[in-house]
Amino acid sequence: MAETKDHWSSEAYQHSASFVPKLATKILQWLDPQKDDVILDIGCGDGVINIQLQDILAQGSGSIHGTDASPAMIEAATQAASKAGASRCTFEVVDALELAQAAHLQRGHFTKIFSNAALHWVLGSCKASRAQQAGVFRAARDALAPGGLLAFEMGGLGNVGEMRAALVGAVARRVGLPRAVEHDPWFFPDEGWAREMLETEVGGWEVVRAEREYRPTRADAGAVEGWVRLFGARFFEALEEGREREECIREVVDVLEVVCKNPSGGFHLGYVRLRVLARKL
Ligand SMILES: C[S@@+](CC[C@H](N)C(=O)[O-])C[C@H]1O[C@@H](n2cnc3c(N)ncnc32)[C@H](O)[C@@H]1O
Repeated sequence: MAETKDHWSSEAYQHSASFVPKLATKILQWLDPQKDDVILDIGCGDGVINIQLQDILAQGSGSIHGTDASPAMIEAATQAASKAGASRCTFEVVDALELAQAAHLQRGHFTKIFSNAALHWVLGSCKASRAQQAGVFRAARDALAPGGLLAFEMGGLGNVGEMRAALVGAVARRVGLPRAVEHDPWFFPDEGWAREMLETEVGGWEVVRAEREYRPTRADAGAVEGWVRLFGARFFEALEEGREREECIREVVDVLEVVCKNPSGGFHLGYVRLRVLARKL
């Protein structure tokens, strides 16, 4: 199901989560972009990584097409690419849950597909069913040329456990656990889930490698509050805008400022990353 409200803002993202594209080094190594690659990016955000790949792609006939469900992110990415003269980067608003309906992206002409820090939102959005989740990987397979590679990194099982517990707990106290869980937008699987989904449920994929890594991450300039307001936005929609919502946000932030405090300074967030490299058979 398509997102109805755009929760994303490039300014808030750069203030509270600029570490997300900066920490993509390992999955970019797995992607191993070459000068003639034709790459599809699922959930490209504000295009920081896409623009980074321009230099390699411009040495040959390569290109990268960034897709994202957020018009605000695509607008920011388009402007940033134009400013940087990154002519090999194109962008388009596409909900990944509807990739199969985007006929122009289903012609099997991409050599690689990349996705960083987006699939846990895609697969969790609106409580996507297992069939919808499989649909994303089927559409990704059909977008690729035979032998093409899919390299993705997303939140893995246990990701931001302390943040999620504080969010679910504070919202549940006000509206009950079932409603709080309905507003939890994330899906954090493990390597076994990814293998089963790609090789068995969807088929036509070989998982070349998969790993999960605990990667505690220093909070950005927006600190804990910036993170909670940006990434927790969908939880708080369970509450009326105004006093009740603000009190709940304050409670979550107060708890997490204690739990995430680094005695050496700043705050650390308990990120767990799931990385997968798969080949289309
Ligand atoms: C944390 S950001 C990551 C952005 C970028 N890949 C990066 O590394 O900076 C997650 C992105 O996933 C996008 N997203 C969430 N749900 C989506 C969906 N159903 N289809 C496509 N993009 C989606 C959001 O709009 C957001 O830009």
